[in-house]
Amino acid sequence: MKENINLSNLPKHIAVIMDGNGRWAKKQGAMRIFGHHHGIKSVRETVEGCVELGVKYLTLYTFSTENWNRPKLEVEGIMQLLIKTIGEEVPDLNKNNVRLKAIGDLDSLPKSARKTLQDSIDLTKNNTGLTLTLALSYSGKWEIVEVTKKIAQQVKSGALAIENITEEVFASFLATEKAPDVDLMIRTGGDHRISNYLLWQLAYAELYFMDDLYWPEFRKQHLFGAIYEYQQRERRFGKTSEQLPSVKV
Ligand code: FPP
Repeated sequence: MKENINLSNLPKHIAVIMDGNGRWAKKQGAMRIFGHHHGIKSVRETVEGCVELGVKYLTLYTFSTENWNRPKLEVEGIMQLLIKTIGEEVPDLNKNNVRLKAIGDLDSLPKSARKTLQDSIDLTKNNTGLTLTLALSYSGKWEIVEVTKKIAQQVKSGALAIENITEEVFASFLATEKAPDVDLMIRTGGDHRISNYLLWQLAYAELYFMDDLYWPEFRKQHLFGAIYEYQQRERRFGKTSEQLPSVKV
């Protein structure tokens, strides 16, 4: 499948909703946290696949604002898993020239998770290949409200005039900063929804829903399959087919 991918038409930014860990674990007769642990292998494969191809931005929905409402034991399990994994992965991230970032209400994370995260972000900040962003305690509506507050502050202080608020100005305040909008959004686990993820950045994303696959089963070949399918789609951005430049393969 990798050979079929056109490297000159890669999605610049891929976002993933890693869904189905709990159901996968249940199928094995195990606790939900078992599924999250197995999801780490899928994360590694996805990062490696992006590095191999040269994708520049990968954003993973790791923990949503709404996930705080899960049973306490599961939330603690996910936080411990995060701390352990993020710390352990730094050498591999550096080896692969991957820069780690995080978006979300990071102040709401346990102190130990915040520290490991910040250390790993600092240790990888000079890497120039893939930017791997973890969305943690994140929701798209939260992000839009945060941007609104920042813009309101600037207007209030006189730094920004209302008539100068454009889409570009708005986007410059987003947590994803300089990352381009998402080109391809992949969701495993069978649900066909966006679940409050990157609401602004997904405006023109191609959506790829995997009906028969839970996140712990996701492998590089699935990533390559999704990218291949993305390349078969015509992205018109509101134009007609005839107005589009013909893509040379
Ligand atoms: C969704 O499956 C998964 C999560 C809420 C957690 C995902 C976290 C990981 C895979 C760990 C990632 C770690 C790093 C370092 C990126 P679900 O629990 O909603 O599954 P269900 O829909 O079957 O209940």
